[in-house]
Amino acid sequence: MSGAHALPEPPLPRTRAAPIFAIASGKGGVGKTWLSTMLSFAFGRAGQRALLVDCDLGLANVDVQLGVRPTADVHSVVRGFLELDAAVTPVLGGPGRNGGFDLIAGHSGSGALGTVKLEEVGRICTGLTKLTPHYDRVILDLAAGIDPTVLRFARAADRLILVTTEEPTALTDAYAMVKLLRLQGAQITPWVIVNMAENRVKGRKVFDQFSMACNEYLGFKPRFAGVICRDSRVPDSIRAQTPLPIRHPQSQAYEDVIRIVETLNAG
Ligand SMILES: Nc1ncnc2c1ncn2[C@@H]1O[C@H](COP(=O)(O)OP(=O)(O)OP(=O)(O)O)[C@@H](O)[C@H]1O
Ligand SMILES: [Mg+2]
Repeated sequence: MSGAHALPEPPLPRTRAAPIFAIASGKGGVGKTWLSTMLSFAFGRAGQRALLVDCDLGLANVDVQLGVRPTADVHSVVRGFLELDAAVTPVLGGPGRNGGFDLIAGHSGSGALGTVKLEEVGRICTGLTKLTPHYDRVILDLAAGIDPTVLRFARAADRLILVTTEEPTALTDAYAMVKLLRLQGAQITPWVIVNMAENRVKGRKVFDQFSMACNEYLGFKPRFAGVICRDSRVPDSIRAQTPLPIRHPQSQAYEDVIRIVETLNAG
């Protein structure tokens, strides 16, 4: 200690790049985008600087869910107009304990990037690695489906977070995604989140079934990240374009997200 008048110490330079989390599912509409925003928010509240990247290049909608108007988007990056770091939009004041984070928005509406080339996705991924030293957590919100561009983003991640629901179609699509990635040689052990579950016990059972199938047919066991219960406050907050914990300070779904962040941070 150097006495009561000591100035606060400047932050230490970052020595490790942020891990990249890809939020993927195979099946559409299981809650990837909503969950990506909530993880970014919860990481912020846990004191971690988060960058959320909307990688749904055809039908981007992170900015719509959050009600922000980005001045730049990943489209500019893909077409080579902007460096990735110039395309960042701060959400809720930017990374901080109030739940803010940085966003690289997708390009909504035109569908112009629906036919994005694999090499362009590669360029975004390279740009991302330049940004990771500035953050503690980077979250990629992936598109539905298992086409090569989605798989390319998934392979760029350090951690694959598979989102499924209790529906058999969501489970088979999640299974197909991880099978394809492993066939491509990616030694990925995904984390699994069961979203929109009736309750935690049922959600956990769904994970156990999925884990058994992976173990039996693919020879590995996925990791359990947690269950998020179906909560009517989620669609309500999306309709209001306001993050769930701001719109509803108490909610089952956000409590579940906090648990998941604790699990991910511990693992
Ligand atoms: N825990 C939950 N409880 C209730 N509704 C939920 C929950 N999670 C997500 N939803 C609802 O599911 C819908 C789809 O969510 P979202 O857009 O995040 O899915 P997605 O997987 O990103 O879809 P896409 O594959 O089209 O990108 C939203 O309208 C949201 O209200
Ligand atoms: Mg989405």
